[in-house]
Amino acid sequence: MNKAKHIAIIMDGNGRWAEAQGKKRVKGHEEGAKVVKAITTYCSSIAEIERLTLYAFSTENWKRPRLEVEFLMKLLDTYLQKELPVYLQNNVRFEAIGDIQGFSKKLQKTIKTVEEKTAHCDGLTQSLALNYGSQDEILRAMNRLKNSQEDITLEMMSKELDCKHDVDLLIRTGGDHRLSNFLLWQSAYAELFFTDILWPDFTPKELEKIIKKFTKVERRFGGLK
Ligand code: IPE
Ligand code: IPE
Ligand code: MG
Repeated sequence: MNKAKHIAIIMDGNGRWAEAQGKKRVKGHEEGAKVVKAITTYCSSIAEIERLTLYAFSTENWKRPRLEVEFLMKLLDTYLQKELPVYLQNNVRFEAIGDIQGFSKKLQKTIKTVEEKTAHCDGLTQSLALNYGSQDEILRAMNRLKNSQEDITLEMMSKELDCKHDVDLLIRTGGDHRLSNFLLWQSAYAELFFTDILWPDFTPKELEKIIKKFTKVERRFGGLK
């Protein structure tokens, strides 16, 4: 049986969820934050899940209207501050991947503080992808390696990436079937699951169902059974 040690989720559909109810898109983000909490708490209670990487803000999301971007930044800041005791209570280590230097100094400080204060937690690692794009991540890694005297190896690349862990199970909510620049390198052999459920409607029960299906898939990694 496969183990879902590293689950990655593209949390999509917040805006559509809100619009379907005649609400502003940002309401969907607020509701989505509650689901982040529920899913993280669920994952922290399952021993085999070591890492949960959640796509929260992409390098392309800056193209959105200024007010939506500002709302997301504020939401992230308050979310992290409010969740710190919950992370500690559940022994969850928080880390950010992505180029957080693109954020305000204040938000960068909140991110660093929560990373530092949860650094000793050795249960689940919740990794939030913030100003994250896979292509940007790979380019930043390559630029750091370009002066190396030796040929670049897979191991050297993996060490330089923000996310150094292969994905076992990658899920996208919201009905679209694309990766939108998320963990392209790390998902080389990930099992992909797509659901039409919009992120604010996603539940631990749904995740449990997907994990159940995942455990039965035959993963061959290019070899034979
Ligand atoms: C995902 O939901 C959250 C972020 C990208 C920040 P969306 O905001 O993309 O919601 P839809 O896809 O427009 O419904
Ligand atoms: C992907 O969702 C990014 C996040 C969930 C943070 P998008 O809504 O930005 O992706 P596209 O535009 O549909 O590809
Ligand atoms: Mg979307």
